[in-house]
Amino acid sequence: MSPLTDRADAAGRTGISGISGIDLASAAAAVHDLDRLVLLGIASELHRRTRLREGAAHEPGAVADDLGAAPRHRWIAGHWLAALHEARLTGRDADGRYHRLHGPGRAELAAARTRMQAARVALGYPAELGELMLRSLRLLPELLRDEIGVQALLYPDGEPATAEAVYRGNVISRYLNAAAAQVLADLAGRATRPLRILELGAGIGATTADLLPVLTATPVEFYLFTDLSPFFLDTARRRFGTGFLRYALLDIARDLPRQPGELDLVVAATMAHNAPHVGRLLEQVAALLAPGGRVLLIETVREHPQSLTSMPFALSTRDGPPRRLDCRAGTTRTYLRREEWLSALEGSGLRVEVDLPRPGDPLTALSQRLLVATR
Ligand SMILES: C[S@@+](CC[C@H](N)C(=O)[O-])C[C@H]1O[C@@H](n2cnc3c(N)ncnc32)[C@H](O)[C@@H]1O
Repeated sequence: MSPLTDRADAAGRTGISGISGIDLASAAAAVHDLDRLVLLGIASELHRRTRLREGAAHEPGAVADDLGAAPRHRWIAGHWLAALHEARLTGRDADGRYHRLHGPGRAELAAARTRMQAARVALGYPAELGELMLRSLRLLPELLRDEIGVQALLYPDGEPATAEAVYRGNVISRYLNAAAAQVLADLAGRATRPLRILELGAGIGATTADLLPVLTATPVEFYLFTDLSPFFLDTARRRFGTGFLRYALLDIARDLPRQPGELDLVVAATMAHNAPHVGRLLEQVAALLAPGGRVLLIETVREHPQSLTSMPFALSTRDGPPRRLDCRAGTTRTYLRREEWLSALEGSGLRVEVDLPRPGDPLTALSQRLLVATR
């Protein structure tokens, strides 16, 4: 690994050292407990409300019928059943029909809720994360029928605290954002001209907020904050102001527009998986970079059961499941695995410099990584 990785690694450790009482050795068990509550909650919902309760084998489509799923959300029934099957909570026959679904009782669900809350605390997530998980489980029927959207879950009463809890107030986000800030500091320290930075899918600015302080003593030509949604741009404009910050709508599902001049850094935090074809996105990003410029990704490398009651609803398009044209084609996978992210970066002509957390670090159990590659 490069000296840059060493410094980024050290910065990540600084990030987590500020969180007292965290027992990282128990991170894998805590992740399991977060996942388990959601899996049991979905199993309970399907057991109570669908024909799977009866024991015979059924297609996911019949389960979607029983749930009254809106057309665009029907695929989610199959997505959930596949996850329940992987967790051994339902059987599946050779024809892909599901049967013998486990129906958890009250005591099992209550115990899972208690363990989830302990796991949340162990991982440094604020109370809002627990509330989000419980609220989403309670509202599954309304979510499936498309009567409420996932925004209502993430922004109850229009407040960003829940989204902040998911994207910022936890161990892994602090670690990764601190390491990302160190990468930017390194870049700024060696810059020979004012920096040109583009952030894709910047959303609530959870990563932006940790990057901007690095730039206070550095000449910056522009930091272009972009997102698909005007809602986030308005909020960010109020929060971060202007100066070198600029704001624009940008959809990575379409070709990226050429930016003025060559870029020193492209940031994409928990958003590049939204590209229909990740390799194609990274090729376009690489083409926007100046020689020596970097792309900084924060990405998830595992399908988290814990987000099964929120993420799929955010991903449904008007016509159903999201369009995937890369290694995820033909599946309902959202994320690439670590090796797939690395090969997509290398395949776009970029050289990977930072890949954190390191193998063996207990933080790997959280399945989110910082990947930095240079042109
Ligand atoms: C999980 S959030 C992460 C937000 C932010 N990067 C952070 O760390 O707080 C994903 C963001 O990607 C944006 N997004 C989703 N699809 C997109 C697309 N096709 N083009 C641009 N942004 C997109 C969403 O609006 C959302 O703000």
